[in-house]
Amino acid sequence: MLNSTNFTQTPAFKKLKAHHRTISKKHLKELFAEDKNRFKKFSIKFNDILLDYSKNNINRRTIGYLTDLAKECDLSGAIEQMFTGEKINQTENRSVLHVALRNRSNSPILVDGKDVMPDVNEVLEKMKEFSGKVISGTWKGYTNKSITDIVNIGIGGSDLGPVMVTEALKPYKKKNINIHFVSNVDGTHIAETLKKVNPETTLFMIASKTFTTQETMANAHSARNWFLATAVDSEYVKKHFVAISTNQKEVEKFGIDPANMFGFWDWVGGRYSLWSAIGLSIACTIGYENFEQLLLGAHEMDNHFRNTPFEKNIPVVLALLGIWYNNFYGAESQAILPYDQYLHRFAAYFQQGDMESNGKYIDRNGNKVDYQTGPIIWGEPGTNGQHAFYQLIHQGTKLIPADFIAPALSHNPLGEHHKMLLSNFFAQTEALMNGKTREEVDAELTGKSKEEIEKIAPFKVFEGNRPTNSILVKKVTPKTLGSLIAMYEHKIYVQGIIWNVFSFDQWGVELGKQLANKIYPELTDSEAIDSHDSSTNALINQYKKWRK
Ligand code: F6P
Repeated sequence: MLNSTNFTQTPAFKKLKAHHRTISKKHLKELFAEDKNRFKKFSIKFNDILLDYSKNNINRRTIGYLTDLAKECDLSGAIEQMFTGEKINQTENRSVLHVALRNRSNSPILVDGKDVMPDVNEVLEKMKEFSGKVISGTWKGYTNKSITDIVNIGIGGSDLGPVMVTEALKPYKKKNINIHFVSNVDGTHIAETLKKVNPETTLFMIASKTFTTQETMANAHSARNWFLATAVDSEYVKKHFVAISTNQKEVEKFGIDPANMFGFWDWVGGRYSLWSAIGLSIACTIGYENFEQLLLGAHEMDNHFRNTPFEKNIPVVLALLGIWYNNFYGAESQAILPYDQYLHRFAAYFQQGDMESNGKYIDRNGNKVDYQTGPIIWGEPGTNGQHAFYQLIHQGTKLIPADFIAPALSHNPLGEHHKMLLSNFFAQTEALMNGKTREEVDAELTGKSKEEIEKIAPFKVFEGNRPTNSILVKKVTPKTLGSLIAMYEHKIYVQGIIWNVFSFDQWGVELGKQLANKIYPELTDSEAIDSHDSSTNALINQYKKWRK
């Protein structure tokens, strides 16, 4: 059982409150001027990842109090409970063991007294064998042709992880396999995808933990109809459809051969599932050897997270900094800004990862919280973002802590591109910190009249003092990406522990699903309805009128 401390009632929280009153008056520039060793003190190197968190409104004391806060909320106990298979997803009575999926040391992890590792290894072995056959061309379609295209049909955690990873690791893609993803129930998504593929050489992966998700099942049935329109014989479905699910009954009902089902378990949360059989599309796109590297990178981060003192623990430090801004500075969002085009879905992935985990206002005692919990996560790759929303980060009225992520080595060392990209990465965090003073602006405007300077100068001044983390990695390899993903996963857990919420359920998603299911049959005929409020009734009735 996780303990349930109200973190705002801890001695550390009170010290942080008082400390915030003084340190928040200091500009980041002053903090750097006061301490020549800031980078050394506030950076952590782990394998090929360097976290520089010195450009934050903190000093040694801040980190001391923040780590005390983590201790007072029994973070160590919570970490151990996760790694040892305790049922920390208490509202669903489930263990939370994405760490078991990538437990490369293979040490036993018990759930209800049973070691889960043999089952994990068995599924991995099956994935290895299957992906090997697909990539080598020995898995044949119904006309004896090899597979050229994979269509992964899933949504949320059964989509976003594989999308993000296959995009991030495109340089490792096998040349003979193209990957497509269909998630939206909007028919456009599947229709446009099917235009690009041939039923004889396409493999559909129906990825759904529950195998009941409306969007996924609708897309799966449309894909099956499309396939059978050419293949005709439903016997051929088994050569072209595989299922990734925990629900064998529903998989069989759909007509997929249980031999082509890749299982996982209720202790794998949807948004933490890319490491499980849900990663089959990843293994088939970049090869099982690279998928294993991804698992290894995550495992190494897991060990770091479990065994490193809080002050030097990357996920813990990131989490505590997030709490610092969220609960003391009133920041409402957190930007994730990768300076790597291949990472263009990274922020979107953690939008689900973070917001579905910690977007909760009920604490672990079942009471409404009286403090802020999970932030809004958003972001786009640099340098595109610089020409879109950075204006607001620099000169807007909102405080937006931002994580900047960049690789030192590009997969596409084309001319001067990477140097230009990285010069922007370095320049932005520096500019956000230093800003530009009135004196600097005046000097820039030398030659203009005093009147002109007075008029224009205020707009050109930047206060600076905007906090950032810089996460510089050597190269975006499968292993480093695995570590980066696990780093954010654990950050989310740490924050959930301190905010005293359950991070691994998602009851908030249910209401919309239930209401859509109620409205769906009302859309069948053309009769006007009056079963809802006046707004919903009018919208539905207008839709029906136009549909006629
Ligand atoms: O969005 C809610 C959710 O339950 C996610 O947590 C999950 O990733 C997604 O739906 C898909 O669920 P399933 O894999 O069961 O189709």
